[in-house]
Amino acid sequence: MVTPAGSRLPAFPKIGVRIAGTGSALPRRVITNDQIASIVDTTDEWIRQRTGVRTRHICDTRDGESNLTLCVQSLRRALESAAMPASELDLIIVGTITQDMRCPSTACLVSAQLGAGRCAAWDLGAACSGFVYALNTAHDLIRAGAYRNVGVIGADAVSSLVDYTNRGVCILFGDAAGAVILRATDDTTKGCIAQVNRADGSGWPELYMPAWVTHIPESADLTQYRTGCLQMNGRAVFKFAVSTFQELIAETLERAGLKADDVDMFVCHQSNARILEAARERFGIPSEKLYINIDRVGNTSAGSAALCLDELVRAGRVREGQIVMIVAFGAGLTWASSLWQL
Ligand code: ACO
Repeated sequence: MVTPAGSRLPAFPKIGVRIAGTGSALPRRVITNDQIASIVDTTDEWIRQRTGVRTRHICDTRDGESNLTLCVQSLRRALESAAMPASELDLIIVGTITQDMRCPSTACLVSAQLGAGRCAAWDLGAACSGFVYALNTAHDLIRAGAYRNVGVIGADAVSSLVDYTNRGVCILFGDAAGAVILRATDDTTKGCIAQVNRADGSGWPELYMPAWVTHIPESADLTQYRTGCLQMNGRAVFKFAVSTFQELIAETLERAGLKADDVDMFVCHQSNARILEAARERFGIPSEKLYINIDRVGNTSAGSAALCLDELVRAGRVREGQIVMIVAFGAGLTWASSLWQL
């Protein structure tokens, strides 16, 4: 137990946290830029140059695919890679904004489908930052001694919120889920060594889903707005993202007393290839240390960083002993980082 000298606060147990397994899931259906260009006035070239996206995976609901099925598959794969039965989980957190049902939580449905028994289960809504917020929350709860085995999922089926007549939005997004199993360990060197979790709610109108007509500004061009569909001021979000991403990385490194060179891999939310490239240049990160998969899968919101992490682990590019930075930003506006000693 750790008791700060002279402190009257209850002592916290000294616990490390390790990533014991990872998993991910993508829908089967792949949509190309040319297919998008057959729906809206755009081109493959424009989409590739402005976003880096070539293809994205989209749930086919007629085929039974949904945000929930992706969540279940990704956590099942993470449990398999951790060689752990679902019954040993004592908490599941799902970072998502595209639940199949508003009630109950996706986490409860995942728990039921995987046979996780009576473990705690809740969803966390922070849009594209959902996975990193959830990862930090789960980590800190384990460190505090509240739970020992936690399944963390980042997932979104953004296609369920996209208006496929709005070319400013539909070009960018895809569907995906990624999951990690966090386990308490006696090795206290392992775990999150620095994190930042932030939000600026005043920026919400830049990226939101109007649920009712009253959420649409009176001055708005009504042909551009649909209730139930994502509304994005792309230019404003782009500007916010470029500056926030860089400040986030700098602040996290400073908190840990590390330099960008000390980090073995940057696992970034795949917002737009140009945003990632700007961050890479600013910190002089070699391209092999900043993973990119937006070309294949698009921007998959809370699924993004979690999917990247699983792909990197399975490729042997992220492994025990390394220092890994996971960063994301999104609607809210929200942004978060998690720097790990694996
Ligand atoms: N095809 C062709 N032309 C287009 C398209 C398109 N799909 N979309 C817009 N244009 C046009 C515009 O009409 C505009 O024309 P104009 O100059 O004649 O007015 C021109 O292209 C430039 O438009 P911009 O909106 O400035 O294009 P930009 O280069 O900013 O790219 C994009 C748009 C890709 C959406 C970009 O702004 C972006 O990636 N923003 C950030 C998105 C993001 O990261 N979101 C956060 C996470 S999502 C979440 O949290 C759920």
